[in-house]
Amino acid sequence: MNDVLNAIKNRRTIRRFKPNPIDEEKIRSILEAGRWAPSFSNLQPWRFIVIKDQGLKNALDKASRESVLHLGINEAPVVILVCVDRRIDPLHAIEAGAAATQNMTLAAYSLGLGAGRIGIWGTEAEVAIQKIFKLPETVRESPEGLRKSVEELTQFR
Ligand SMILES: Cc1cc2nc3c(=O)[nH]c(=O)nc-3n(C[C@H](O)[C@H](O)[C@H](O)COP(=O)(O)O)c2cc1C
Repeated sequence: MNDVLNAIKNRRTIRRFKPNPIDEEKIRSILEAGRWAPSFSNLQPWRFIVIKDQGLKNALDKASRESVLHLGINEAPVVILVCVDRRIDPLHAIEAGAAATQNMTLAAYSLGLGAGRIGIWGTEAEVAIQKIFKLPETVRESPEGLRKSVEELTQFR
């Protein structure tokens, strides 16, 4: 089995996390995997928020606890909030976000990291989290051809 098929088959959702810090290079590789996901008309409606701040993780954890199955958000050394902007793609933003998220969890697996995902779309947690985080603004033209850069797509918190 090749590496891609192996990752697809053997990646599992992880819900308990060690506190060990994650290499910046690995975080970067995971963001790269997200930005190279396919999207309708290559609109790339995703934005990523990388969260290491414990106060923010606790706030996310609290906001999520009521409406989704809890997944160790406050324990994980790094949480990546994958957002999509429906103004950029009113038709397929959610599918694009799901594709990016899947790429990112497969990338984490390939790098030897455990990862899980929580879907909050349409829940009370979504509303609460929108209040906690200032979401990225409108799209700018990308200087980088085929994909927007990690810097254009990501906030580090
Ligand atoms: C859109 C989506 C939302 C999910 N939300 C949660 C969640 O809120 N809490 C959780 O513990 N797992 C969540 N999961 C993980 C699934 O429970 C998990 O993928 C499924 O049980 C299969 O297990 P595996 O990923 O280990 O193969 C979610 C998965 C997807 C694709």
